Amino acid sequence: MQARKIILKHHFDGEANLNNFEIVEETLPATLRDGEILLKAEFLSVDPYMRPFGDRMNVGDVMVGSQVAKVLKSRHKRFPEGSKVVAYVGWRDLTICSPDTMKAMFSAVFPLPDLKGLPDSYALGACGLTGLSAYFGLIKVCQPKSGETVVVSSAAGAVGSLAGQIAKIKGCKVVGFAGSDEKVSWIKDELGFKFGFNYKEVSADSILKKYCVEGVDCYFDSVGGEFTYSVLRNMNEFGRVALCGAISTYNDPKDNKVPFDYQSMIYKQLKLEGFMVNRWFSEFPEGVGQLAEWIHQGKLKVRETKTQGFENMPQAFLDLFKGKNYGKGIVVA
Ligand SMILES: NC(=O)c1ccc[n+]([C@@H]2O[C@H](COP(=O)([O-])OP(=O)(O)OC[C@H]3O[C@@H](n4cnc5c(N)ncnc54)[C@H](OP(=O)(O)O)[C@@H]3O)[C@@H](O)[C@H]2O)c1
Repeated sequence: MQARKIILKHHFDGEANLNNFEIVEETLPATLRDGEILLKAEFLSVDPYMRPFGDRMNVGDVMVGSQVAKVLKSRHKRFPEGSKVVAYVGWRDLTICSPDTMKAMFSAVFPLPDLKGLPDSYALGACGLTGLSAYFGLIKVCQPKSGETVVVSSAAGAVGSLAGQIAKIKGCKVVGFAGSDEKVSWIKDELGFKFGFNYKEVSADSILKKYCVEGVDCYFDSVGGEFTYSVLRNMNEFGRVALCGAISTYNDPKDNKVPFDYQSMIYKQLKLEGFMVNRWFSEFPEGVGQLAEWIHQGKLKVRETKTQGFENMPQAFLDLFKGKNYGKGIVVA
């Protein structure tokens, strides 16, 4: 059986481009061994972390990533033929793997969670690590209280669009920053953010001073860099910052710094906490259940930007850094 995988052809140098990737064909064995399953990708995830992760990979490695896949053949009891899985097997359209021997962060297979009738692709987005990052990052790290002001960056992105809506569910005033006027309209008019601003056209510092005179209590950060510095300067005493991601710095590892206003962090007694969502792995079922319930209740709106065709994975990945996605970037295999 002929399968395709996408490998890192050249290391990234600054912004990624199509030449960094190569599609390679391979012939899979016709028969499975005990414990193996054959997967066919249905939906694949493109995520910003793949850019910094690529710096730690070797040329020729398969790009890391997750997918929703169907089990075409099985010699493993827990994964019967016809069942669906979330598989961390990288950018592959057909995969033979052995779930019991896969224990690493980017090498694992799980049965598809119960999505309560929502689309399977949500297992990569709103009911997957994306939604869980928004949910646990906000609830556990920011701990927002009703009436507080919450700032969200990359607010029309996969995680940010959900984090802002969850803050709203918790009774907060939500202020989002996104990279185009259309995205700003979407987060205000459709998602119910109190304020939205195009960070490419305004100074976050002066906007926060003007529209958040009461100060910022929580900041859910997906971008890092100068933008984060501006938000930190406008935090209230005992403000909480969830450091989720730093996409503004991913293309230049040497630029991976935030010029902290160190003294005001001390005087204002701020809490900044980085997190990796896997910290709450044992609580994922509860998180998925809550996210699915909010979606069914219409409290959490979900948007996906879908790219057709496995061969277009590299382009879909590059599009993240051009701000082309609304919500979760998904490739339909
Ligand atoms: N800690 C964890 O466990 C965890 C888990 C998941 C994700 N993350 C991180 O969370 C962040 C968000 O992830 P995501 O999946 O939701 O991605 P995302 O926000 O959908 O990422 C793509 C968006 O990032 C924005 N962007 C691109 N370059 C930018 C720049 N230089 N400055 C500011 N914004 C930029 C663009 O939106 P605009 O049009 O608004 O610019 C783009 O649409 C990422 O940093 C990711 O690495 C962390």
